[in-house]
Amino acid sequence: MIIKSANLETVCGVASVLPINDKPEIAFAGKSNVGKSSLINALLNRKSLARTSAQPGKTQTINFYNINDQFYYVDLPGYGYAKVSEAIKAKWGKMIEKYLRTSKQLKAIFLLIDIRHEPSGNDKSMYDWIVHQGFQPIIIATKLDKINRSQKDKQLKIIREGLEVTADTKIFPFSALTKQGREEIWDYIETICNL
Ligand code: GTP
Ligand code: MG
Repeated sequence: MIIKSANLETVCGVASVLPINDKPEIAFAGKSNVGKSSLINALLNRKSLARTSAQPGKTQTINFYNINDQFYYVDLPGYGYAKVSEAIKAKWGKMIEKYLRTSKQLKAIFLLIDIRHEPSGNDKSMYDWIVHQGFQPIIIATKLDKINRSQKDKQLKIIREGLEVTADTKIFPFSALTKQGREEIWDYIETICNL
């Protein structure tokens, strides 16, 4: 995939009207700090198009990145961020759910899970919800560079078992630091978006 252009086209907060796009959308969901924005930057070979932070809770809006005028990457706020009030968490949750439920162009929801950790209850709920909505679930196991190579298979098994994934669920190990897994993810996206 040759990236000719990548622009943040639409930013939606809780009070915003969601855009009606006419090109495929690919969304990235997962816990705060799991690496959603970093993944988008790595896929696009851009250092800081999507804003990232070591502090969880960086992305607080739904951000639509227009790629080559061909499709969109959609960066979502993370769940499970402790520092905001329950009321705000509920509003974000509703906003994310509304987008994922109503978008006519959403082709895939990638669920990101930190490869070092067992999936949380929120991760499991998100996985089940993706399946329930009729999407083929795809997992990205992030921060691959933070474990030894020898631990990889064991950690992937913990994720599979924690989420109780179906046998055909794809799981891509990925590192935003080393870019390992980037090509495999791109190939998959090109296939589902017919690029
Ligand atoms: P929210 O916007 O808060 O939901 O977080 P996010 O999921 O967008 O995470 P973000 O991309 O901002 O990354 C969080 C932190 O993890 C940052 O300090 C990143 O540099 C770091 N990070 C993300 N991916 C990787 C990775 O693959 N390897 C390593 N070592 N660090 C990573
Ligand atoms: Mg983010």
